[in-house]
Amino acid sequence: MPVGVIIVAAGRGERLGGRVPKQLLAIDGRTIVERSVAAFDAAPDIEHIVVVLPEALVADAVSIVGRPARPCTSVAGGARRQDSVRCGLAAMPAGVDVVLIHDAARPFVSGALIARVIAAARESGAVVPAVRARDTVKRVPMGTSTVAETVPRDEIWLAQTPQGFTRRVLDEAVALGETVDATDEAALAERSGHPVRVVEGDEANVKITTAADLADARARVAPAPRVGTGYDLHRLVEGRPLVFAGIVVPFERGPIGHSDGDVVCHALVDAIFGAAGAGDIGQHFPNTDERWQGAPGLDLLARAVAILADGGWQVANADVTVVLERPKLGPHIPAIRAALAPVLGLTVDAVSVKAKTNEGVDAVGRGEAVAAHAVVVLRRAVRA
Ligand code: CTP
Ligand code: MG
Repeated sequence: MPVGVIIVAAGRGERLGGRVPKQLLAIDGRTIVERSVAAFDAAPDIEHIVVVLPEALVADAVSIVGRPARPCTSVAGGARRQDSVRCGLAAMPAGVDVVLIHDAARPFVSGALIARVIAAARESGAVVPAVRARDTVKRVPMGTSTVAETVPRDEIWLAQTPQGFTRRVLDEAVALGETVDATDEAALAERSGHPVRVVEGDEANVKITTAADLADARARVAPAPRVGTGYDLHRLVEGRPLVFAGIVVPFERGPIGHSDGDVVCHALVDAIFGAAGAGDIGQHFPNTDERWQGAPGLDLLARAVAILADGGWQVANADVTVVLERPKLGPHIPAIRAALAPVLGLTVDAVSVKAKTNEGVDAVGRGEAVAAHAVVVLRRAVRA
């Protein structure tokens, strides 16, 4: 029993209310319809995909749908959803005898759900995936604001797609749909006398209907935050300014190096590149390149933040520990945090700077060097 799918994407998305139909909007770089098509393209049993688009967009089908690995036909839809299904069915090759119908507006359909619907459609001829109602259900007659009855919730299931039918059942349902209005093919199959079986739907298989649904969908695919650590150490010598995030702390010695020896900024730069898996400070700003010799640490930090911003990443918070025997850093910490915050794109409360001595131990403890450890969390803004 070869299986095909009709993905209906010819609606106007009026409830979402954008300039373009909702199925053409992107979630993290891929359109909603492209995501739906990809889900079926990856399902092992699907042999043919028909995508139903608004008439004006059929000529651009490849740019909208991509190039699925499986045979894929794009056709123009009709005024009602059921008209679009009829247009899609007419384009389904004759050899396909189990047909799934899926709303393009449900881009999170899983392979497991597709397999469940196909198995049940083969067995029973007509199947709808559905989830149980969670809220108490009230029936309120149109044009009134008074509850007519409370419907027993245990009997209420909320229908999803893909719905699955043998071709014979679907042909009859679609024919009935020419004269009867329905919001899904299962309703038409019921009305043409076919028992429609329910299989467990999937709470994640939401239909993107409103702007809030779209925002939720984008938040859902946002990548997990990334964490990175950084470390830096410089020897302290006489005649150099002791600088942390560009703030000069009065002292008789300061860090020596090709740069300004700003350990706070250098540790943060490494933490940022580390979180992104993007190498380290030496790779991006090699000290053999005269552009970076003597470069202020805050400048390198701003550049690191900008490099990451190109990929959509931004710093969520930063925590630095400076290890320094003398002088006491405490009085300067507010100024250091205030200098870092705008460069990191953060408010001061998301930038922590702490100081420690090394208890007289080792080179840092003898006052011969200053070190800093940094931890940074990056998050990626959700892209359209
Ligand atoms: N659909 C279609 N042809 C139509 C109407 C709807 O192919 N004439 C498709 C939509 O593109 C969507 C699916 O059917 O993928 C479910 O419909 P719905 O969520 O109602 O989408 P729209 O009709 O586009 O949205 P709205 O009702 O808010 O205008
Ligand atoms: Mg609609």
